[in-house]
Amino acid sequence: MSEVFNAIQVADRVFWVGAIDWELRDFHGYLTSRGTTYNAYLVLTDQVVLIDTVKASFKDQMMERIASVIDPARIQTIVSNHSELDHTGSLPATIERIRPERVVASGPGAKALKEHFHWNQPVQVVKDGEKLDLGNGSLQFFEARMLHWPDSQLAYLEPDGILFSNDVFGMHLASTERFAEQLDCALVIQEAARYYANIILPYSKKVTRLIEKLPTLSLDIRQIMPDHGPIWRQDPGQIVELYRTWAAQQRTRKAVVVYDTMWQSTAKMSRAVVEGLVGGGIDQVRVMPLEGSHRSDVATEVLDAGALLVGSPTLNNEIYPTVADVMTYLKGLSPANLLGASFGSYGWSPQSVKQLDRMLTEMGVQLVSEGVAVQYVPDAAALERCRALGAATAAQLIERHPEPSPAE
Ligand code: FEO
Repeated sequence: MSEVFNAIQVADRVFWVGAIDWELRDFHGYLTSRGTTYNAYLVLTDQVVLIDTVKASFKDQMMERIASVIDPARIQTIVSNHSELDHTGSLPATIERIRPERVVASGPGAKALKEHFHWNQPVQVVKDGEKLDLGNGSLQFFEARMLHWPDSQLAYLEPDGILFSNDVFGMHLASTERFAEQLDCALVIQEAARYYANIILPYSKKVTRLIEKLPTLSLDIRQIMPDHGPIWRQDPGQIVELYRTWAAQQRTRKAVVVYDTMWQSTAKMSRAVVEGLVGGGIDQVRVMPLEGSHRSDVATEVLDAGALLVGSPTLNNEIYPTVADVMTYLKGLSPANLLGASFGSYGWSPQSVKQLDRMLTEMGVQLVSEGVAVQYVPDAAALERCRALGAATAAQLIERHPEPSPAE
C-alpha cells in the first residue's frame, strides 16, 4: 500500500497542505536534529488561495494533500510570501500544474522569484498594508523585510484572524501534531529558541520593530500559522512575547565556554576558567567542547548568555578549524551585548588568542581583558591566570546582571 498524504483542517476555512521532512539534519549549517516541516496552506474563501508551497522534493505530497480537499485546478491565487527555496522549490511546477489566475508576492519577492527561476511568469506585486479581496474575506499583506530575506512578507486573513507568518515565529520541528499546544511546552520553546538563535537573531532590531508595529495595525490575531513547525492556536501571544524577549538581547548572568584542544592543554585551561567563573558566583556555566558540540548548539546557548569565553590552541599560526567554524558562524549571527574573553595554548607562536580577541572585538563583544596564552602545557601559575580570567568575567557579568539567571 502506498503512502497517503491528506490535508489537515487547521481552521474553518484553512487546510494544512504542507510536508513533513523527518530526515533534514542540516539547514544552512544549522543542525536540525528534529527535522522540519514546510507548511503550505489552502484557504477556501470565495477565491481559493494557496499560501506558499514546499521544497521541490515534496511537491507531490503537497499536490496530493491539496487534491484530498479540492481539485487543485480550483486554486485561483498563489501567494508567495518569501522566495527561499524551502517555500518556492515547487512553485514553478505548481503554477504549471494549476495555472492560477495570479501569483502574488512583495516587490522584492517578485524580483527574487525572477532571479531564482528566470521565468516570464507575471507576478502581481502587493505593497505593505495592501488588501487582496477574496470575496467573503481578504488577505492583507505586511512587509517583513529581512525576516528572513528582503522579500519576506506576512499575510493576514480576515475575518478569520489568521496571520500567515512565513519564517517568523516558526521552528524546525517535524511532528505529526500541527498545533503547538499538542506538543510538550518545553520542547516547543526550546526549538523556537534554537530557530531564533540560528536564523532570526541577526535581524533582532527588525523583530522589535515588527512587534511594536503589530498592535498599531488593529489586527485580531487569533492564530499564527508559520511555514515551519507547529501552528500557534491556543496562545499566539506566547511566541510574540518570546520574540520580544529574544530580540531585546538583554541577556542573563550565564556564561558559555567554548573550546577545542589538541593535547589537552586548552582543555585544562578551560576547566580553570570555569572554576574561576563558578568561584566568582556564576551558577549557569555551559561548557561546550567542540569535540561534541555543534555550532548551532553553541549559538542556541549564546542566545541568553551574558558572556562568551572561547579557547583555541594555535595550529599552523591559526586558530583551530573547529573554533574558526563556530566563530565565523557566531559572527554572522551578530549577537549583541556580550562580554567575552579568550584563552589557548601554543607551541612557538601565540597566534590563537590574538586572533580570537580580534574576532570577538569585530563581533562587538566587550573583552573582559586580553586573552590568556600559554606555551605548551599550563603549569599551576598559568592555570591560576585562567582562574583569574574566569573570576574577572564573573565580576563583570554580575555587575551587568545583578539578578541571578532564572533557573531553567
Ligand atoms: Fe524557511 Fe527563509 O526560508
